[in-house]
Formats: sequence, structure tokens, C-alpha cells
Amino acid sequence: MSEAAPGAASKNRPPLAQGRDPTTPPTADQPIRVAIVGLGRIYDLNVVAYLDYPDVDVVALVDPDGARLDERGQDWPTAHRFTSIAELAASGIAVDAVEALLPIASHADSVVELLGHGWHVNLQKPMATGIEDAQRMLAAAADAGVTLRVMDNYLFYEPLVRLKALVEDGAIGDVVGYHLKMVASGRGGWEVPWDTYRAQFEQAARGRGILVFDDGWHKLSTAIWLFGPLREVRAWVGATEIVPGITLDAPTTVAWEHENGIRGSWDITLAVDLYLRSDYYTNDERWEVTGRAGFARVNRCTGRGIQEPSLEVYRDGELRSFHALDDDWASSFRDSGRHWLRWLRTREGPLLWSPDQALEVLRVALAIYESSAQGGTGVDPRTIEALASPRA
Ligand SMILES: NC(=O)c1ccc[n+]([C@@H]2O[C@H](COP(=O)([O-])OP(=O)(O)OC[C@H]3O[C@@H](n4cnc5c(N)ncnc54)[C@H](O)[C@@H]3O)[C@@H](O)[C@H]2O)c1
Repeated sequence: MSEAAPGAASKNRPPLAQGRDPTTPPTADQPIRVAIVGLGRIYDLNVVAYLDYPDVDVVALVDPDGARLDERGQDWPTAHRFTSIAELAASGIAVDAVEALLPIASHADSVVELLGHGWHVNLQKPMATGIEDAQRMLAAAADAGVTLRVMDNYLFYEPLVRLKALVEDGAIGDVVGYHLKMVASGRGGWEVPWDTYRAQFEQAARGRGILVFDDGWHKLSTAIWLFGPLREVRAWVGATEIVPGITLDAPTTVAWEHENGIRGSWDITLAVDLYLRSDYYTNDERWEVTGRAGFARVNRCTGRGIQEPSLEVYRDGELRSFHALDDDWASSFRDSGRHWLRWLRTREGPLLWSPDQALEVLRVALAIYESSAQGGTGVDPRTIEALASPRA
């Protein structure tokens, strides 16, 4: 264990008793005590919610990588540092909630362990790679009487939030269909460490690719958030070898129908030589909802794309453009994280997502693979049950 100066312990705050009634939010006279577990690429954005937020005390950092502990420890000089969850638990440091930013393959085991210590968990998507693992996580949360949230920052991205509100307010008339577009581009954006990619490529080799399953989680999640549960999915998952031995899951085409009859389609393509300006990933993304009387489009999300407004609404010969939205993708992480921290205090509003809702997203993702394997036939995601996670 490598440990920093004992900060939180020296602040004389009353520790939360272990074995407390876990439905009781942390007491009001002290900030919520948080451990951040996993300090890789996405830490940089998840942490935006915690920086300068008065009702939180980051008391511990956990990562097996000592260099990352040292680097991220600069952000939280008083936080204790640990190389495993077991070391954190053994330390006796009082923790109320965990920010879990872990490789996907370790979500289920690590989250079950975290919940077992009586800590609330805010988990990065995707929840898990199979239904059995997801159900183990639900059972662990229920046994410990604590809350598992599977966060999706896209549900807090202002252009998407505004699009949803406009569509629900009838700005384009009754919805008649919609389209999601994802182009993975090879140039621009931030550096992603090789070990992050390696974990993703290993995951892809086990049948849960980066574009359909990892990034795709957001697309499926926004679809359900916008128009409700799905009753049928049809998919054609492709593969492109980008360098010998490494394959990406594009081109992929997916279509579905919601229980309310609205149809959506989603195409994933790969444009390896396309340059896009971005502070983060360089995805060229689009959400385009068509109504009887017009359309509403979100033109970008993670990448800055081209110089156009992030949200546009067309009706009756007029195009309304939104030029002053908080459309920096990082802001969606800030707002998602603070929603969680407020929720821990107040229990008000939807979790976005609860574990049951995340399970619904997972079922749709798995229905895509099932449909593709059957040659693109329709699959009802509600019938996807008890699928084990693919192992190495
Ligand atoms: N919301 C989004 O848009 C978004 C974007 C990127 C990644 N993600 C998700 O965030 C999660 C993490 O992704 P990333 O890109 O940061 O991955 P990463 O590989 O860069 O970081 C993971 C970190 O976890 C550490 N780790 C591994 N096992 C651990 C353990 N048992 N205990 C503690 N730490 C451990 C690794 O050393 C590494 O530092 C994934 O679920 C990914 O899908 C979400």
C-alpha cells in the first residue's frame, strides 16, 4: 500500500458507523466521503463533478498502478492511496460512496466487492458484459442495502436534454422516427493510454466491441431515455481489421422499434483518416429526430466536429439554432456526478440509471448480438435472460 498524508482523518469529522441503516443518507454535518476506484483515462472527466463541490470529501484513491496513484494524488493531497479495494477496506477509513471507473471486464467482481463493504457505488457504463453478472450486482446491492447507480453522462449533455424537452413539448409534431449516427474517426482528440486500448481490444475479442458495446451503450441508453422500452431489435454487426490482430466492430447497422411504435436506426462507421477537432474522443455523432412537422438534431457530442450549433430545430420553413448551450462534453460528466451526489443526500429524482434500467440497456445490447448472429432477424430484448459474460 502506498499512502498519502492522513487528510480526512485529521478533520475530526464523525465517522459514519459501519452497519448503519444504509438507506439513510450520509449525515448532514459532514461531506459525503468518497473513494475513487480506477484512475485511468476517464478519471479526468468524472472528477470534474467532485472538484470544487463543497459537499464531498475525496478520502481515498485506489488503483494498482502506482504512477497513476501519484499523479492523481496531486488532485487530492489529503486522500489516502491504495493499490486494491481490499487494502482500502482493511484500512478502516469511513467511505460513504465509491466512484467506480474500472475496466469493463472487472465491473461485476469489483462492484460486488465494493457493495459488500456497504458503500454506495456510482459505476461507469457499461454495467456488465452479461445478464448473470448484472444480476449478481443487483443482488449484492440488495443484500448490502446500498445503492448501485450506472451512470450515463449523455443523459446530462445539455443539447440532448434540450432536444428531449423540445420533442416532448411537440416542437416538431408527433415523432415519426429517428436516426443515430456514429462515425469513429482515427485522427484528433486526446491521448488514450495503450493499456486502456489493450483492455478494450481484449474485451472486443470476447465479443463486446468498442463501438457497439462500449460507446454504443450511450446510444442505446439515449434511445430508451428518449422513447422508452424497445420491443424488437434487428442488427448487422460488422468487423474491420485496423491493424493485424485488432478488429473494430464497424460497419454496423441496427434498427429497432419501441413499445410505443416509434422506430429508430443507428449506423456505425469507421473513417480512420478523418480528422475532427476534439478535446476528448473524436467521434462524429448525431441524433436526428423526425416529427410530423419538422426535425430536431443534435450535431455533436464528444468531438467539436465542424463549426455548427450543437442543436438545431426545423419547422415550417424556419431553422432554429442553439448557440449558447453548455455543449462541452465534460459538463455532462460534471452534471451527472453532481446529480448522484445530490441524490445521495435527497433521494430525489431518477437515478439515471437505476440498476434495473441499466439491465434494460444491457438486454438491448445483447439483443443486437443475438439478432446479428441470426442473420438480422428481429429479437425482443425482453426475452434476453441469463446470458453469461463471455470469458477469456
Ligand atoms: N462515459 C463515457 O463516455 C466513458 C468514456 C470512456 C470510458 N468510460 C468507461 O469508464 C470505465 C473506465 O474506462 P477508462 O477509459 O478510464 O479505462 P482505463 O483503462 O484508462 O482506466 C481504468 C483504471 O482502472 C485501474 N484498475 C484496474 N483494475 C482495478 C482494480 N481492481 N481496482 C482499482 N483500479 C483498477 C487501471 O489501473 C486503470 O488505471 C469503463 O467502464 C469505460 O467503459 C466511459
